[in-house]
Amino acid sequence: MFDSAFFDAGLDREGSDCIKWDTCRREHGKDVLPMWVADMDFKSPPAVTEALRRRAEHATYGYTEVTAKDNEALAGFWERRHGMRPDAEWMVMIPCVVTGMKIAITAFTQPGDGVILQSPVYGPFGEAIDVTGRKRMDAPLVRDDKGHYQMDLAAVEEACKKGAKLMLLCSPHNPVGRCWTKEELEALLAVLERYHVFLVSDEIHADFVYAPHTFTPILSLTHKNVLSLCAASKTFNLAGLQQSSFLCPDEGAREKLRKTLDANGVISGNIFALAATRAAYNEGDAWLDGLLTYLVGNVRELERVVAENLPRAVLSPMEATYLGWLDLRAYGFTTQEMMVRCEKAGVAFTGGTFFSETLGDGFLRINIGCPRRYIAEGVKRLKEALEA
Ligand SMILES: Cc1ncc(COP(=O)(O)O)c(C=O)c1O
Repeated sequence: MFDSAFFDAGLDREGSDCIKWDTCRREHGKDVLPMWVADMDFKSPPAVTEALRRRAEHATYGYTEVTAKDNEALAGFWERRHGMRPDAEWMVMIPCVVTGMKIAITAFTQPGDGVILQSPVYGPFGEAIDVTGRKRMDAPLVRDDKGHYQMDLAAVEEACKKGAKLMLLCSPHNPVGRCWTKEELEALLAVLERYHVFLVSDEIHADFVYAPHTFTPILSLTHKNVLSLCAASKTFNLAGLQQSSFLCPDEGAREKLRKTLDANGVISGNIFALAATRAAYNEGDAWLDGLLTYLVGNVRELERVVAENLPRAVLSPMEATYLGWLDLRAYGFTTQEMMVRCEKAGVAFTGGTFFSETLGDGFLRINIGCPRRYIAEGVKRLKEALEA
């Protein structure tokens, strides 16, 4: 059922107030092809829609408890998909992963403390550090000329020596597409442990990893000074429902998270979000398997059309995520200039400077969580933009 025809069909999202299409077309033109914000143009699993329908048909929506069923759904999914069963006790629900980052920073550090990040990285990492009044300590990733990125552990250690208190890790990594290996994560943990630096691992892209790569949950390696941020939102396209979770094995750390959530007025447990997330985790495997097969085809298609149309571009190897990281510096434009040209050519990407003002300039991120036919069209428009 979840074959390429299902995903090829996509769906018309216009008029649903979605940011990807509606906001984009309002701001950048009615024919713009949106290949930017990280959600997908596919129908979510039918089991999710059915669960929402059933909940709505109950026709009353009073205060609702988070129950063992919710925890069990998450635990069972992680056990099946990632070989690690999170304990129900570790789970602290939050609306969004980015909210979780801000709460963790607030709970475990003081204003003015240093927080490590690895640029180029999803923009809200840095914003979470700024908005909480902490100090960004960048340990930029190191890129080779094929677009493959690695961690700079010497730079991480340097930041630790200078007093960093916490690190935000993106695992797998948006936008550079790395799926960190067990060995890389162990080496990182060894450095952080020496300096007692707390690790917040954003694992929202954990389910989008392509063979032969495999995702290593940070909690399969240690339970000390660490938490994972996880969600069904990216995996099953449920971001508008706003439901995520901390997985935090340490009871003392969990207590700090709960207090900080409370002090900041953050509550979770939206009736529809809970129903949808449970259905996705319990009944979404076949859909997700079909999606992953389809996305592998999309990755190959992106590689093909980039090689054919943009011979001077470098696409970072896509080990994970449905987000391609394109180095277009050989074409001689800043990201800002490319964005203006792309708008004229009728296509929207996320500018590389969203991920780093300096290391992302001359880059674009392309979202291929869409019917395959959009990819050739998007890259054709990009070529026109660069050649105009
Ligand atoms: C790495 C990463 N973390 C977090 C988010 C956003 O998550 P949320 O909407 O739950 O805050 C995204 C969305 O693209 C992401 O790529």
